[in-house]
Amino acid sequence: MIRGKFIILEGGEGSGKTTVGERLKLEFPDAVYTQDPGGTPLGEHIRKILMSDETKGIDVRAELLLFLAGRAELVGKVIRPALENGKLVISNRFGLSSIAYQVYGRQKPELLEFFRTASKIITLGCEPDACVLLDVTPETGVARVHSRPEEPTRFDNETLDFHVRVREGLLKHAAEFGTPFVIDAEKPLEDVWTETMNAVQSVLR
Ligand code: TMP
Repeated sequence: MIRGKFIILEGGEGSGKTTVGERLKLEFPDAVYTQDPGGTPLGEHIRKILMSDETKGIDVRAELLLFLAGRAELVGKVIRPALENGKLVISNRFGLSSIAYQVYGRQKPELLEFFRTASKIITLGCEPDACVLLDVTPETGVARVHSRPEEPTRFDNETLDFHVRVREGLLKHAAEFGTPFVIDAEKPLEDVWTETMNAVQSVLR
């Protein structure tokens, strides 16, 4: 039986998910934190494959299937057991990213129905209670990514139009992943943080 709460953090590149996630870890140290893709040994392998330039030009169906495979492992091995234990689970990205990136970003509307069918099997009934969406314009997000010391990924390096479509997908479908909390992440970090805390606390109430 699922007794815990499940919150997903979503947003485009450079929206501040990782920074907010780090602060949440300090605020809720007993919660289980995970990232999608990733969070399990298989998931980390899949993440490396997906982020590497070797998979540049990968067939979009194959790309989606890899994200889904990593997510199935993550739900089965980490998310469901934690929720059954009554834990709060906070995931940096989840299914909304597949809609935003593979369906909208890659312009494959025909994949939406398949995504939904596959997700029913993948989530094992672990549907998010809330989706905290950190919303930034692609211009701001991409500029933030390029000012970081880390190498940008092949997703970061997509065109501005790609990131515009991703944002559209995120905003249009956030409400399918529990209660949507859309936060203007162009605002100063302290404001974004306050709104994130309000969202998390309202889910826990
Ligand atoms: P991040 O975890 O560092 O944000 O990187 C993950 C990248 O993978 C990011 O660019 C978004 C992308 N992505 C998808 O394209 N589809 C997905 O389903 C997920 C979870 C992420």
